[in-house]
Amino acid sequence: MGRSSKDKRDIYYRLAKEEGWRARSAFKLLQLDQEFNLFTGVSRAVDLCAAPGSWSQVLSRKLRGDEAAKNVKIVAVDLQAMAPLPGVTQIQGDITKVSTAQEIIRHFEGQPADLVVCDGAPDVTGLHDVDEYIQAQLLLAALNITSHVLKPGGTFVAKIFRGKDVTLLYSQLKIFFCSVTCAKPRSSRNSSIESFVVCQRYCPPDGYVPNMSNPLLDHCYDVDFNQLDGPNRFIVPFLACGDLSAFDSDRTYPLQLDADTEYRYTHPPQPPICPSYQQACHLRKNNLLSKEGAAVNTSSQSQSKRQLPAKDLDSVKETEKRTESSPGVQITGSSSDLKD
Ligand SMILES: C[S@@+](CC[C@H](N)C(=O)[O-])C[C@H]1O[C@@H](n2cnc3c(N)ncnc32)[C@H](O)[C@@H]1O
Repeated sequence: MGRSSKDKRDIYYRLAKEEGWRARSAFKLLQLDQEFNLFTGVSRAVDLCAAPGSWSQVLSRKLRGDEAAKNVKIVAVDLQAMAPLPGVTQIQGDITKVSTAQEIIRHFEGQPADLVVCDGAPDVTGLHDVDEYIQAQLLLAALNITSHVLKPGGTFVAKIFRGKDVTLLYSQLKIFFCSVTCAKPRSSRNSSIESFVVCQRYCPPDGYVPNMSNPLLDHCYDVDFNQLDGPNRFIVPFLACGDLSAFDSDRTYPLQLDADTEYRYTHPPQPPICPSYQQACHLRKNNLLSKEGAAVNTSSQSQSKRQLPAKDLDSVKETEKRTESSPGVQITGSSSDLKD
């Protein structure tokens, strides 16, 4: 299979490279903006879970415009380092830590943010229930840190998996925002349970004190929230967004998109720095991985192989096959590209 085959199968991957975005996810934020006009009047924005940085690129291009607006401040937070971007301050940190919230506020010189976005995704385990649960926890961590930094009336946008406990999540978001909408950009595949919550007009309950050790989604998963009805059940509007003429992310397109423009392969604009899968790649490339219980050959080389359980080795191979979310990424361990 040639390197252009992914360009055929994933039109947004191809367009991201051609337009210089670090990940195809950029189109998701752009299409959400088309529907919700997210950037109007925004001068302080936070991008949570930002690496490799395509959402920060969108914020930078949209908020700073051609001439860098002087009063615009953008902060990007991720566990991983990412290559610099114009007008974006990076914090390499954990969104679950209060120190990260304090650092954001310091950068804004004590002023609250107008907009917080989060495209966060934990590393996948492959067990869907567990992955959905962890994603929900990450969303709540994002909500928690947002409650420290967002101004009243501000907007919060975050990735959500529409799994079985999504109603509980919606109810919790609705405690903090006057309006909560679930939106599916056209660049997010229909086959994926990924969507985005667009939470507008931040209005925390009277007397609410932001607290990082306050996991809203407690462990009462037995309570059947989805069965609630009447005024107890909060139904979130669902919106498909992005121009209807936009490309369909589930379709395969020919390389020659129109008669006038000849197809040329474009390289990814920016590979991630020190991604978490780097060690796995190194071990595999150097044939330092072996299956537990596989017939051990007698050569001394095999002695130095790191014994990984068979399922882990399979998962490294599986991970290597995936190149979905980031054009700069040859292998990625994030759940977004699995589900999306
Ligand atoms: C799908 S990627 C984000 C892609 C990004 N929005 C873009 O457009 O380039 C998910 C990111 O979430 C980050 N992440 C996961 N848990 C985190 C945490 N607790 N704190 C900070 N970042 C986290 C991962 O490191 C990963 O880079």
